[in-house]
Amino acid sequence: MKVMHVDASAKRERSNSRALSRFFIERLRAEGVDVEIDYLDVTVDTPPHVTEAFAIATYTAAEDRTPAMKATLAASDALCQRLLEADALVFAMPMYNWSMPSAFKAFVDSVTRTGLTYVNTEDGRIEGQLGRQKVIFITSRGADLRPGTPFSSMDALTPSLRAAFGFLGVAEPTFVDAQPLQFSDQEARTQALERARGELSAIASRWAQVELSSDVEEEADAI
Ligand SMILES: Cc1cc2nc3c(=O)[nH]c(=O)nc-3n(C[C@H](O)[C@H](O)[C@H](O)COP(=O)(O)O)c2cc1C
Repeated sequence: MKVMHVDASAKRERSNSRALSRFFIERLRAEGVDVEIDYLDVTVDTPPHVTEAFAIATYTAAEDRTPAMKATLAASDALCQRLLEADALVFAMPMYNWSMPSAFKAFVDSVTRTGLTYVNTEDGRIEGQLGRQKVIFITSRGADLRPGTPFSSMDALTPSLRAAFGFLGVAEPTFVDAQPLQFSDQEARTQALERARGELSAIASRWAQVELSSDVEEEADAI
């Protein structure tokens, strides 16, 4: 399984979202999945912010683009290709000011591309191209935003991720939200991490079952 693994926390060794995404990949391997990783740290290789040149080039039909426009889009083209080639997408990030880290938003702006990650069909529909990929968002939050808590209405992260990737064809993403990890006592933090690891283990096990059974089907077809 080719997995594109993206981390987005400004923290490194002390990052919870990074530790949880590593844990998830380890669990997939422990379940017997042959995992090939394409890794991207968007805090190191941050895609550029949208510029005027990008905004014009991206909405110019591919056949009408000048060499300069093609050069403007080259890095974004390559990033889209990486997403399209992956079988699974593992996106890990902290909540910053109720939404996604700006480095991850720059990534979203880079990979939302007409003619690549979504296409306009002849009958006027928009067809996202990431329908084949399994997708998991692993988010870490300082507060507890679960339903029924005072902060639940402040969650602008989950809906924005759902919308951005739904547009690209991701119909049923999985979310594992570790919370509360900062604005709480130590016991609540420990429980939040345990809960998240439990959910991640269960999801890794489900993904492995699907992956290993499709391997068996492919082998049977080949006989
Ligand atoms: C700049 C900044 C903004 C933050 N904003 C929020 C927020 O709006 N809501 C929240 O629940 N936690 C917020 N936090 C807390 C982080 O989401 C939390 O500590 C998380 O566990 C960090 O993940 P990490 O360990 O992977 O970096 C913020 C942290 C930072 C550094």
